[in-house]
Amino acid sequence: MTSDPRHQVLVASNRGPVSFEFAADGSLSGRRGGGGMVSGLTSGLAARAVDGPSGSPAVWVCAAMSEADRAAARQGVVLAGEGPGDVPVLMLDIPAATFEAAYNGIANSVLWFVHHMLYDTPNQPQFGAGFRADWAAYHAYNDAFATALSGQAGTALSGQAGTALSGQAGTALSGQSDTALSGQAGKGARVLIQDYHLALAPRLLRDRRPDARIAHFSHTPWAPPAYFRMLPDDVAVAILDGMLGADHLGFLAGRWADAFLDCCAEVLGAQVDRVRRSVTYRGRAIQVAVHPLGVDAQALRARARADDVRAHATALTKGAGDRQLIVRVDRTELSKNIVRGLAAYRELLATRPQWHGRVVHLAFAYPSRSAIPEYRAYTDTVVKVAAEVNEEFGTPEWQPVMLEVKDDYPRSLAACLIADVLLINPIRDGMNLVAEEGPILSERGCALVLSREAGAAALIGENALLINPYDISATAEALDAALSMPVPERQRRCAAMTEAAAAAAPQHWLAAQLDTLDRRDSLDHLE
Ligand code: F6P
Repeated sequence: MTSDPRHQVLVASNRGPVSFEFAADGSLSGRRGGGGMVSGLTSGLAARAVDGPSGSPAVWVCAAMSEADRAAARQGVVLAGEGPGDVPVLMLDIPAATFEAAYNGIANSVLWFVHHMLYDTPNQPQFGAGFRADWAAYHAYNDAFATALSGQAGTALSGQAGTALSGQAGTALSGQSDTALSGQAGKGARVLIQDYHLALAPRLLRDRRPDARIAHFSHTPWAPPAYFRMLPDDVAVAILDGMLGADHLGFLAGRWADAFLDCCAEVLGAQVDRVRRSVTYRGRAIQVAVHPLGVDAQALRARARADDVRAHATALTKGAGDRQLIVRVDRTELSKNIVRGLAAYRELLATRPQWHGRVVHLAFAYPSRSAIPEYRAYTDTVVKVAAEVNEEFGTPEWQPVMLEVKDDYPRSLAACLIADVLLINPIRDGMNLVAEEGPILSERGCALVLSREAGAAALIGENALLINPYDISATAEALDAALSMPVPERQRRCAAMTEAAAAAAPQHWLAAQLDTLDRRDSLDHLE
């Protein structure tokens, strides 16, 4: 194993690749984490461990998100994965109240809403005293990550973050260097910070560790300046200033990178080069780049060959009969636009009766962020509208919508295998990995109806049927076109989308970011 700390890679994200539950007997059991960011990083790091520079250690620093996670973190265990290439995980035991305020109060209820442009603006947002308390927690949460990464654990958050880092880790991690075990960045280490939860961490880390080579990656869209400036002025400045503490800022699509540059120019008055995509700020040049995230097609197909997926595919096919299947797979997330998707399907059936009895809409809408009232209300609406469509058009032989709300990964893979049409219509989406996974998995060669507001549209949109996600009639028309598309054309388009998604596989996405950080060495720093 190499001891050169510059080869070390530290990943920092809110959600980690593992989460814990209490079993009935009170013991802890671990489960793999989900979501686009986690799955992209997990397979990128795994491939790197297999193919990459031999022996370069990696550690993944994440937050404890539940009581069970906190209990695991408090045991001081650094959790090693079991698969080849799994990275050790360092969970930060951030106090529950601080975590809740930072995660639900700011990250999910403010920053997510801003970047996805989700506010009902006549009523929301309202930035008052409650917001300020949450914002202070968000700062403390970011500081806990920066402290852990910089190796000054034990000082932040009344020493609680330090507990997780104190590390009786040697047992779980034989062969790792001491620095890697403690979660500290070795001198010149590369630190990959993820997403809107950790917008302040790059600056907080740079202040402590000017030697670290820091990248931040946004897995969401970025709001245009007019929307971003809804944030209180000092908060808007703090977020941009925080991110610009990095050397390299990555985005999933050109639109999001350009919106970030526009915010830097308008909010900070920073010097922005839109052609080279760079920002000069506080005496440093920060590079902004686009790294689309694709899918490891081979690994995904291998998973889909497993018996559990095949059994689900058989059951779903039986349930649908010989009808065509329109499939969607989403978290029940406001930005995913599930209600308008159902409204478009309803309009398809209302205006084109030739499809009655010949199509089924299989909609997977898994629970998400139920701590937030808007999400609970949205989930109720999804269930209600699906029931209305069935009430309006269903017959004893035909149920037009099959809504499944239980999170079942193998079953959702099975749905993609047998889809004729995939409906992905988010209001805004950083990328949308299902839009890429669907065509890769599809055995029938599915047609893709895709929102032009998803980052994936830039990667695979040429072969999809692109829609304006607010236009229900246009979405119904696209569904009609997709259902009517000759199978050879569907298959040709599906193959082209598969190729584009596979070419941007996570290992390439990750390698591109690490290469850019390595190249920073040859750039002139102005400070
Ligand atoms: O879209 C960016 C992302 O990080 C996804 O990876 C993930 O689905 C989501 O945001 C975060 O979700 P959660 O709050 O459940 O971690």
